[in-house]
Amino acid sequence: MKRRAFLEKGTLGAAGLMLASKTGWNSAAASRTADSRIEVLFDEPMGTISPNIYGHFTENLSGVFYDGIWVGEKSKVPNINGLRRELIEHMRKIKAPVVRFPGGCFADSYDWRDGIGPMEKRPRRTNFWNGVESEKSPASHKYDPNAVGTNEFVHFCKLIGAEPYLAANVRSLPASAFYQWVEYCNSPAGSTTLADTRSAAGFPEPFRVKYWGVGNESWGCGGDFTPEEYAVEFRRFTSWLPTYGDELKLVASGPNTDEWSWTREFLKEVVRKGTGQLRRIYGMALHHYAWNLSRGKTQDWDAGKGDALKFESVDWFELLREGERMEGLITGHWQVMSEFDREHHIKLIVDEWGPWYRPGSEMTPGDALEQTPTLRDAIFSGMTLDIFNRHPEKVAMANCAQLVNCLNSLYLAHEDKFVITPVGRVFELYASHQGGESLRTVFSAPNLRYDRDGKSASYWGMKGSASVRGKELTITAVNPSPGETRLTEIGLHGATANSASMSFVTHSDIHAHNTFQQRDIVVPQTKPLALNAGGLVVEVPPASVIALNIMLA
Ligand code: AHR
Repeated sequence: MKRRAFLEKGTLGAAGLMLASKTGWNSAAASRTADSRIEVLFDEPMGTISPNIYGHFTENLSGVFYDGIWVGEKSKVPNINGLRRELIEHMRKIKAPVVRFPGGCFADSYDWRDGIGPMEKRPRRTNFWNGVESEKSPASHKYDPNAVGTNEFVHFCKLIGAEPYLAANVRSLPASAFYQWVEYCNSPAGSTTLADTRSAAGFPEPFRVKYWGVGNESWGCGGDFTPEEYAVEFRRFTSWLPTYGDELKLVASGPNTDEWSWTREFLKEVVRKGTGQLRRIYGMALHHYAWNLSRGKTQDWDAGKGDALKFESVDWFELLREGERMEGLITGHWQVMSEFDREHHIKLIVDEWGPWYRPGSEMTPGDALEQTPTLRDAIFSGMTLDIFNRHPEKVAMANCAQLVNCLNSLYLAHEDKFVITPVGRVFELYASHQGGESLRTVFSAPNLRYDRDGKSASYWGMKGSASVRGKELTITAVNPSPGETRLTEIGLHGATANSASMSFVTHSDIHAHNTFQQRDIVVPQTKPLALNAGGLVVEVPPASVIALNIMLA
């Protein structure tokens, strides 16, 4: 089955491998010869890292809202206005900048008007994802109770300090429903009937939502459009929208992975009405899931997937190979965009990314599309965030799919149980990049070799990114070697370090993951680093994501 068919149908479709023992990364680094280098070039700034690169995605899908984010005001689970308190607290800690809602495929089946007004009067509707739910799934996952609508979602964003990013329904609602949603959210208190409705719900002040998606995956579940057809819809949906003095940042539904023709044909049709049309588009969405771990044996959406928890070292590398395609996707689509948008007014919005495994690792049985992230997903996520950091002029926003109880979750939650996954821990390590100036940085480390179906394959030994904010330098990197420590010299070209510390996540088992019972198997550790006349040398543990926080003189 193809991914597209899967989405259209709405149906779902080892053994532990221990690491070789680590080479004492706490031992005196200076006594060994460095095999790796990180060179930070202060005179080669590449642009400001948009905080929104560290964004999130919350779809009304299975356990994301009902049980994940929303527990209800009367719940015994600690909550703030019905929203899970522990989640809010951690999202504040990682400085969550932006959250996308309500989908995903769900968005193009959603009528925002169902989710406003008194809760007891809100209708129950069949969820887009109904077909993937099982007998074990609770009713709220199959039939949307609409307890979480625009008010609750925007309130959630406010509580965590993030901007809301709403996706409009292009497939099954008229353009008027879109501009009335904008009116509901943004018209000034007392100005319109919809502003009065919002006030009556306890929100007199406008929400001032500025990020709006115009459909989702319009090539598939979002309407099965051709790029030309979607471009016509995009123009029509955005010809007029009320702004109330604030610029709306409109995101066009973009390509799946390497479908260059979507990007090209969409833009070609948009500019048929003049290049001025490009000014309407703030960003073009790009989706990339690392799902095919078959090592080239199949393109079938179900058969190609691997297991989240049971994997061999070849699967470890295969996932990373699938994930690192992201860099070529960013530069490739950017190049196609430049054929029409020479000045690069339009940015890339990677509003869905992450690994996607076959079902079976759900911590809460019955949660469709839930999987248990391991250390492998932490490495994947660090690597992906570093790619975004290296392209600050191209990527304006990215949204990890998804926040809780779904795919590359930062959190897993069920009833009163809550755990931060290794992916959530990586977002902690990387938070200090937000708003920093990205600096060109050269990473060199010996290539790794592994067996890929009887053939020797290689993979790079270390990659990462660096950014500076005032006197604070952040260097993040991943060491994908399951067994080798990288003794790494840090060269700062154009600045001097005053003090430094290293935070990192790693584990001796590449399958390590946190559970409701054992919440702290993969947690960040921090240690101060000694600076000496010879500079800074750090031991980067095997299978690790590291963040070096350096105070400059
Ligand atoms: O994240 C799950 C689904 O993946 C989204 O609903 C859709 O946009 C994508 O195909």
